[in-house]
Amino acid sequence: MATDLGNLELTFCGHAAFSIKTPGGKRVLIDPFLSRNPACPEHLKDPKGVDAIFITHAHGDHLGDVIRIAAENDAPCVAIVETADWLEKKGVKNAVGFNKGGSTNVAGVKATMTHAVHSNGISDGDRIIYGGEAAGYVLQFENGVKIYHAGDTAVFSDMKIIGDLYEPDVALLPIGDYYTMGPHEGANAIRLLGVKTVVPMHYGTFPVLTGTPARLRELTKDVEGLQIVDMKPGEVLTGALRKLAAV
Ligand code: NI
Ligand code: MN
Repeated sequence: MATDLGNLELTFCGHAAFSIKTPGGKRVLIDPFLSRNPACPEHLKDPKGVDAIFITHAHGDHLGDVIRIAAENDAPCVAIVETADWLEKKGVKNAVGFNKGGSTNVAGVKATMTHAVHSNGISDGDRIIYGGEAAGYVLQFENGVKIYHAGDTAVFSDMKIIGDLYEPDVALLPIGDYYTMGPHEGANAIRLLGVKTVVPMHYGTFPVLTGTPARLRELTKDVEGLQIVDMKPGEVLTGALRKLAAV
């Protein structure tokens, strides 16, 4: 069946940052690297009315503006326990720390934390602090739609289990290469996940992130029913994969 997001609105803020308006009318952010993100449109840099923030790991290009946005919006911050603990020490009032394989409900969204093959040291002044492991999320919304944000990751064979267990409708996959998988690995990830709608992310923001959606498309053209939705920063995806102008 073709993917239909219903009235959910998925906004790409550039890099690995997404903003989602849920079917329940909440606003949730994933990896809000905004003010210093060269790919983030100006009007998305200062989000208001944020009900929850999900963080895949604590590298600067994902943690971004989380402390400021959490304070300004009094929003819960969801992360793996060690990173959540660090956020709390930095003044985040409502840090929700859980761990891989588990689920929690925040802002009407059922979030399951998944594995990611990546590092997660937190740069704090002149030290690197242990932040626990890097992760991804499967977010299930009130209308049943499931979105998998893979975080930063290499491809790993347990993506097959993520596909089997959660059957995500949409996968947000890093394809830039260098710090994460590139198109060659991403094409394999798509096969393991069995997902039919893919939004590439974490490419092009910086010169080293050389992977492209065009290359990913070329390497997956034999995958039946696959739609690679190449979102430009600021674009919004809703309904039966309709693109809206930036709102
Ligand atoms: Ni990273
Ligand atoms: Mn990254």
